[in-house]
Amino acid sequence: MTQEFIMQMRPWFGAEEKQALMEYMDEDGFLTEFKKTEAFEQSIADYTGAKHCVVVNNGTISLTLAAMAAGVEAGDEVIVPNYTMIATPNSLRMFGAVPVFVDVEPTTLCLDFALVEQAITAKTKAIVLVAANGRAPAVGIEAFQTLCEQRGIALIEDAAQGLGSYYPDGAHTGTKGLVGSFSFSAPKIISTGQGGALITNCDKTAEKLRRLKDFGRASGGNDIHDSLGFNFKFTELQAVVGLCQMDKLAPRVARKKVIWQQYADQLAGCAQVKLFDHDLSITTPWFIDVLVEQREALGAYLKSEMIGTRVMYPPITQQKVYGIEGSFPVAEDIGKNGLWLPSSNQLTDADISRICDAIKAFYA
Ligand SMILES: Cc1ncc(COP(=O)(O)O)c(C=O)c1O
Repeated sequence: MTQEFIMQMRPWFGAEEKQALMEYMDEDGFLTEFKKTEAFEQSIADYTGAKHCVVVNNGTISLTLAAMAAGVEAGDEVIVPNYTMIATPNSLRMFGAVPVFVDVEPTTLCLDFALVEQAITAKTKAIVLVAANGRAPAVGIEAFQTLCEQRGIALIEDAAQGLGSYYPDGAHTGTKGLVGSFSFSAPKIISTGQGGALITNCDKTAEKLRRLKDFGRASGGNDIHDSLGFNFKFTELQAVVGLCQMDKLAPRVARKKVIWQQYADQLAGCAQVKLFDHDLSITTPWFIDVLVEQREALGAYLKSEMIGTRVMYPPITQQKVYGIEGSFPVAEDIGKNGLWLPSSNQLTDADISRICDAIKAFYA
């Protein structure tokens, strides 16, 4: 019997999205941002408990706009983790700001607070804290908030991987900084194909974000531009899909936690595989992230067994486009040994057993 290939991750759309898109196409021909987009923004604001939500075309531009709205300008320094998706620093390079790389905590893969303190200079204007796989820094978010307040630095939360994850006090990821940013790209827990969202509790910042994404005007349908802005708008079609996806978020969050627990239980006796820990009472594991021995050989073996994996991000400083010297032991370790196991919400219990059995067979 030929086995089905288990992808590392894949988006999940269903009949609901198809039906909602057809209904929308029958009732409105504009497609540009309007009521569906407003409803999608409201659903994210409600879910996260944020006062405002502004959607944009992806979770990279959202970070660019967050930094711009926070007052970051070309030449300013912004502290970012060296373990993250390249979008985090590139969103700053986009307008000439300078990402300054700092290593991450070995348990959470979030920014290492002590190293952040050391990296601050007179030019530092912001810190971008990435919720790595939904996790919060072990040191506590309050440490970052206090530091930023004391030093007059903006705290931006890159929560692209954090929808459905919370801080220990129950606040949703992304609500502790000036702005929180989410991504709805294909591999995320909910997707609109591409898409991003910004949340903030600050009225002024929300207004700046709206203007930045819409040509610098106060509202659509006119050509009066009293500030500089661009076009990073969403579409109603994406919002229609996003609303259906939001309806499915709660069961997806619950299933992600079950999936992580099944991996943890079944791989508990496998000394060569170490899962990064998750407090499932507050965190939603987006991807199953592990440190493994013989990573390349394991990945090749699993592929031959029709199981997809993906190596975790290498240190950004080692990417050719950056090529920065320095010692970042945690990010380097992940770059050598970090692997994402299949993580899609569609994984069945049988799939997880098949994957874990294959991993154990490889090491045996
Ligand atoms: C931490 C982080 N930041 C930013 C992004 C960029 O989001 P997008 O792909 O929507 O531009 C991603 C995407 O995976 C991410 O993981």
